[in-house]
Amino acid sequence: MKLKHCHNFQDFRKLAKKRLPSPVFNYIDGAADDEITYRRNTSSFDDVDLIPNVLAGVDKVDLSTTIFGKKIDMPLYCAPTAVQRLFHYDGERAVAKAAQRYGTMFGVSSLSTVSVEEIATLSDAPKMFQFYFHKDRGLNDSLLERAKAAKFDVLALTVDTITGGNRERDLRTGFTIPPKITPSSLLSFITKPMWGINFLTKSKFELPHLQDYVGAGTNVTTSIGEYFSTMLDQSMNWNDAEKLCSQWNGHFALKGIMSVEDAKRAVDIGATGIMVSNHGGRQLDGSRAPFDQLAEIVDAVGDKIDVICEGGIQRGTHVLKALSIGAKACSGGRLYLYALGAAGQAGVERALNQYKMELERGLKLMGCTSIDQLNRSNLRIR
Ligand code: LAC
Repeated sequence: MKLKHCHNFQDFRKLAKKRLPSPVFNYIDGAADDEITYRRNTSSFDDVDLIPNVLAGVDKVDLSTTIFGKKIDMPLYCAPTAVQRLFHYDGERAVAKAAQRYGTMFGVSSLSTVSVEEIATLSDAPKMFQFYFHKDRGLNDSLLERAKAAKFDVLALTVDTITGGNRERDLRTGFTIPPKITPSSLLSFITKPMWGINFLTKSKFELPHLQDYVGAGTNVTTSIGEYFSTMLDQSMNWNDAEKLCSQWNGHFALKGIMSVEDAKRAVDIGATGIMVSNHGGRQLDGSRAPFDQLAEIVDAVGDKIDVICEGGIQRGTHVLKALSIGAKACSGGRLYLYALGAAGQAGVERALNQYKMELERGLKLMGCTSIDQLNRSNLRIR
């Protein structure tokens, strides 16, 4: 199987599985507990059907939308995800360049393997910095200052990782950052020699935003669950979020909002957007899917802030369904991470191109020329 054989999300997943050592692949692919929420995030889209109109003159369609005050060419962007260097030696560089090519936003994680300063030189696409609220206040200040100095457009505070999710695949494979070869994982690394050669010979694995403050993840191997549980501040509350929002003094989002009550509080503290998200099913298994929860959140705050539907998206039509409910845009991690693992920048570009084509085709088949023509009247619950 090659990149040219990848026509959809599942194809990229298969190719990534072929290229990546099992602990790395399963880190992307896995979720919390029984992975029920992870599966529901996607299957929720199947409970609602699109009702198209026809004869609408759709020779020209406009996929653009405006989120956080920035116009993007399509209503789908690359959510921030951690440690991309492990998936491909170009890591975040590949995603930054691919997003720029498709005129969409991308996120850079606090746990990214390329610095915000370098990313700023690579791409003038709209950029989001994902913020983890650490116990170490010096580290928090440094993250904020660096993202501000690098002129990132949006700060997104992740609020659904107050403790580590139970990712049993990572426990089984022994996945850590940086990766550690154990007797049980040795075979999975030996069988992917190209990954190993690239890991050892290409740019060094580092966590440039953290390494001056914490050894974990660079000098000290840690699991993601352990990192969340020990480094992040579990006392984080609404006052902290409000203070961060005013310190940032720009577009600010809470990533991982699921209740109407919290969505309203996000408005109250001055956030300009929220990601309705359960962290890709990687944190609280049994929590509701973002798409299932979208309507009530849009009804409560959709006229005040940007509501983004994040998680489970594998098709252009999934995005069209979320936009019909009232989301301003959608985002996701795995939707470009498998492509990154499969083939670096070329993979991510191919994936983004496919989503763009699917969105364009889907919009035309819906009888719409722009995404603001989508609304709830073109949806029915089964
Ligand atoms: C994860 C974090 C790092 O889900 O976002 O693994």
